[in-house]
Amino acid sequence: MSHPLQGSKPGESTAHLPALQPSGEVLVTGGCGYIGSHAVRALCEAGYSVVIFDNLYTGHLEAVMGACDFKLYQGDLRDEKAVESVFKQHKISGVLHFAGLTLVGESVRDPETYYGANVTGGLNLLAACKRYKVPRFIFSSTAAVYGNPQASPIAEDHSLRPINPYGRTKLAFEHALESYHDAHGIRFVTLRYFNAAGAHPSGDMGEAHDPESHLIPNACRVGLGQLERLTVYGKDYETPDGTGIRDYIHVWDLAQAHVAALEYLAAGGECGAFNVGTGQGHSVLEVIRAVERASGRSIPFTVGERRPGDPPRLVADPARLQASLAFKPARSDLKTICEDAWRWHSNHPHLYGKP
Ligand SMILES: NC(=O)c1ccc[n+]([C@@H]2O[C@H](COP(=O)([O-])OP(=O)(O)OC[C@H]3O[C@@H](n4cnc5c(N)ncnc54)[C@H](O)[C@@H]3O)[C@@H](O)[C@H]2O)c1
Repeated sequence: MSHPLQGSKPGESTAHLPALQPSGEVLVTGGCGYIGSHAVRALCEAGYSVVIFDNLYTGHLEAVMGACDFKLYQGDLRDEKAVESVFKQHKISGVLHFAGLTLVGESVRDPETYYGANVTGGLNLLAACKRYKVPRFIFSSTAAVYGNPQASPIAEDHSLRPINPYGRTKLAFEHALESYHDAHGIRFVTLRYFNAAGAHPSGDMGEAHDPESHLIPNACRVGLGQLERLTVYGKDYETPDGTGIRDYIHVWDLAQAHVAALEYLAAGGECGAFNVGTGQGHSVLEVIRAVERASGRSIPFTVGERRPGDPPRLVADPARLQASLAFKPARSDLKTICEDAWRWHSNHPHLYGKP
């Protein structure tokens, strides 16, 4: 960064500073999606006024209805006028930017759409933030920006060489954000999530993707008899049981990390990227066993070929996040994640749809 603003450095805690009084309105793009809807609820509980902007392409209105009081604009980030109109009507003091397309395979087949949504859409948002002098911006990035890991656990200074268009669009936006910070003073935190999982502890909101590419919801669907069996992609990796290892963060913890990131910036914390994970890896087989215990059902699986580009192990080094933000994961042990996911799926076999 060419001229970092005053404040604590990443790795230096701001937890000693007085708590921020929530002020102004927080814009949540993608607030009807899986992670965004949990963040909306966490923001409301922390006392923030929330404005959601979402095109409802993969999001669900039902995910946020009744969760709290918020204003919702249905619109697409690629529509500059729609984005601008939100900033005209509200005094936005912070942005949480979740909106985007997220499927790796689809991004390989259709890079234009991914660059359009994740980069062009994001640039429209940044242009409005510049015009309306928005001081704080939190971006949902991903471990996919690291590409094939050269080390484990992965720290933020690991090389950034994404191997698919999804990861490349996320990295391109990280660079754009840093440039807007340098040129226009927008202060930012980039959160690089590892695997978000689980559901709200109440069981009334959770993960509802279609198609679903994630292991835990698909294991729950097998438990419910909605899928016959899981496919385990590769059992010949150099890991203790031969299956891939991932770092799971509970979605409710992830939501709290966003509130902590806003408060970190408001307290003068230095801009930068932070891994969001636990530092603990779990293999695919361990996850399947944990869902079996949570559900009391058997989860049959077959072993398929490795998927190209799937590294054997993706585990975060979360030291920077935990040292800088007033945040500690509270529900991210595998047992709680799987119990919460199962509660949501078994109570909502049709997800947000009608029976
Ligand atoms: N789920 C994970 O494990 C994970 C891991 C790493 C990073 N991420 C990132 O976190 C963010 C949220 O992920 P998620 O799992 O909640 O995804 P999601 O698909 O559930 O949510 C995305 C939301 O953005 C909205 N949206 C998409 N394109 C839009 C556009 N052009 N204009 C307006 N709204 C749009 C969708 O309708 C949806 O509500 C994404 O940016 C994703 O890349 C997720």
